[in-house]
Amino acid sequence: MRFRKAILAATSVLCFAQVYAYVWPSPYDFLEDAYTVSSGFGDGGIVDGVNPCSFAPIGGRLPGRQAAAEWLRVAYHDSATYNIETGLGGLDASIGFETDRPQNVGRSMNDSLVFFGAFQSKTSSMADVIALSVILAIKNCGGPSIPFRAGRIDAESAGPATVPEPQQDLASHTSAFALQGFNVTEMIGLVACGHTIGGVHQVDFPLSVENAITPSNPDGVVHFDDTFDSFDNRIATQWIDGTSVDPLAVGFNATTNSDARIFAADGNQTMEAFAQDPDFFSTQCGSLLERMLNTVPKSVQLSEIINPLPVKPFQLFLSLATNGSLVLSGNIRIFDTSPAAAAASAANMPVTLSWKDRNGKPNATYSTSAVAVSETSGSLWGSVYFFEVNVAIDPNFGISSFVVDWAFDSQLPLTHSDNGGSGFPFQDVVLNLPDKSCRNPDQTTTVFAVIRNNMGLVTDAYVDYTSNVNQQGSISVKQVTTRTPLVHVGNSSSVLYDTYSATFANGPQTDEGRITFDVVASISGQTYISLNNPEVFAFC
Ligand code: HEM
Ligand SMILES: *[C@@H]1O[C@H](CO)[C@@H](O)[C@H](O)[C@H]1NC(C)=O
Ligand SMILES: *[C@@H]1O[C@H](CO)[C@@H](O)[C@H](O)[C@H]1NC(C)=O
Ligand SMILES: *[C@@H]1O[C@H](CO)[C@@H](O)[C@H](O)[C@H]1NC(C)=O
Ligand SMILES: *[C@@H]1O[C@H](CO)[C@@H](O)[C@H](O)[C@H]1NC(C)=O
Ligand SMILES: *[C@@H]1O[C@H](CO)[C@@H](O)[C@H](O)[C@H]1NC(C)=O
Ligand SMILES: *[C@@H]1O[C@H](CO)[C@@H](O)[C@H](O)[C@H]1NC(C)=O
Ligand SMILES: *[C@@H]1O[C@H](CO)[C@@H](O)[C@H](O)[C@H]1NC(C)=O
Repeated sequence: MRFRKAILAATSVLCFAQVYAYVWPSPYDFLEDAYTVSSGFGDGGIVDGVNPCSFAPIGGRLPGRQAAAEWLRVAYHDSATYNIETGLGGLDASIGFETDRPQNVGRSMNDSLVFFGAFQSKTSSMADVIALSVILAIKNCGGPSIPFRAGRIDAESAGPATVPEPQQDLASHTSAFALQGFNVTEMIGLVACGHTIGGVHQVDFPLSVENAITPSNPDGVVHFDDTFDSFDNRIATQWIDGTSVDPLAVGFNATTNSDARIFAADGNQTMEAFAQDPDFFSTQCGSLLERMLNTVPKSVQLSEIINPLPVKPFQLFLSLATNGSLVLSGNIRIFDTSPAAAAASAANMPVTLSWKDRNGKPNATYSTSAVAVSETSGSLWGSVYFFEVNVAIDPNFGISSFVVDWAFDSQLPLTHSDNGGSGFPFQDVVLNLPDKSCRNPDQTTTVFAVIRNNMGLVTDAYVDYTSNVNQQGSISVKQVTTRTPLVHVGNSSSVLYDTYSATFANGPQTDEGRITFDVVASISGQTYISLNNPEVFAFC
């Protein structure tokens, strides 16, 4: 019950920004995890695709390819479908349907979207993943910290073909940017902020780049500036001091020198200011790119800014063991930006969980110490540590919520973390049984769950299984949720729980996307949910 309430609360307060506070669980927990943890245990996995900034470390890309630059270009080309007059288009992942257009020439669009597919799920749209990818990539390349909001909705068809091309004249570019909501100053800024990393590939733009293909540069990349792997103001200093190498500014083909026309569109004022002040460049890029990423169809309401939660459960699940005991297992994550956090060593950090029983009563014996996870973890935004929880809970008493008391060192006073006041909610009524659930030889999956049997009539119990299907005309997949009723199959290892199961077709799944499922039951008018259980892999 508390679990459900917290979800409703997290969604409904979006309408009242002043009272918003991110509490766990939230629909954005998966994205928050991916935003916060960039290496080691609990690694969200996105930063691995752009680290180091100069490379494309994943996916067998050729030398010269730079994933950070490719992702930024993907986001720009996706958002460039926005029309300020109709309020349609923007960052909505319609790019998946548009990769065959000459505007989007090159393998980088498809390769990026396939990589992003692994992070797409019921609670993370492709458009949110595209936005997050840019925020992480730019930070990892030494650029500004761009605030992250979630809630983008994926389009189910292509948008208009409104991405600017280099052979177009300045008037076309000015009106294209105006239609996307950016004036001339902002157009100059956005292009300079985009073209401070990456470059132009001869294989894709042979009319703008020539004689660049060599065995070590098979795509014939010519970079926009000579610090292509650093998100700095070098694109502006080189333009102003006459040493530009930008193939779209000083390239052999004057027709495609769109950067030259754009950079000089206000008599070089904006580029002068960028060249003189690297901090001004960085803050301007931060706010312009934030606006670009938050350019969404008018029907979409974005969340509040998502910042790393200081204390958060990570893959923490309650289940029923074969000896009839409840077992709470998984991890607690601690994040902070302070020097004390940076100096901490997880092994010296006291971390204690104290829970309330299912009737909301605290009990001195209901606590456990969490143990430092031996692998260290990294975050682009601060310091992050993980602690393992593995505790048996008497089902007669159960659990309804917990709090965490912790410190960066055993000498320091403990901090009491209660998830915004009422503790981290945890329901013990509907539990997934991951060890029993399995894939059948006939392309079906059986999910087993237990439901508390002494709380009244179970009226509506089901599994919502979210998998991915291919979309006609798009490189990207779409999430589809299938609902299957849970049927009562008998007793369980505890007299307090009965076993239920649901069997359903695996469906037309693809390798792309994350598969998760929720187990839900209504008992005496209350709904209980075991959220975001990971895909079933084991064979029966
Ligand atoms: C008039 C506007 C623009 C034109 C005509 C333009 C044109 C181009 C062209 C022709 C390339 C070469 C692509 C390739 O060889 O793969 C390129 C690369 C790039 N563009 Fe733009 N661009 C514009 C605006 C922007 C904006 C606003 C951004 C982002 C804010 C951006 C980000 C990038 C990035 C990061 C690359 C490098 C891609 C890579 O190295 O793989 N561009 N652009
Ligand atoms: C564009 O808008 C910004 C404010 O967002 C303003 O400072 C700037 O002067 C404007 N530029 C033009 C050319 O209107
Ligand atoms: C320059 O680019 C334009 C437009 O893409 C093209 O028509 C023209 O042939 C190119 N010029 C040269 C010298 O390659
Ligand atoms: C702008 O800067 C470029 C490159 O340094 C230079 O060629 C051009 O003359 C400048 N334009 C104006 C109007 O100052
Ligand atoms: C605490 O829980 C234990 C069972 O785990 C129970 O025996 C005891 O009576 C409880 N104490 C209080 C004060 O509720
Ligand atoms: C029951 O099993 C769990 C998990 O294997 C274990 O942690 C717990 O100690 C066991 N409880 C009893 C009473 O044996
Ligand atoms: C990108 O993917 C689409 C859809 O699968 C495909 O039609 C297209 O040929 C691919 N483009 C490239 C450059 O590989
Ligand atoms: C569950 O039912 C089976 C078969 O009826 C029985 O053998 C077993 O003892 C029961 N287990 C429990 C915990 O009640």
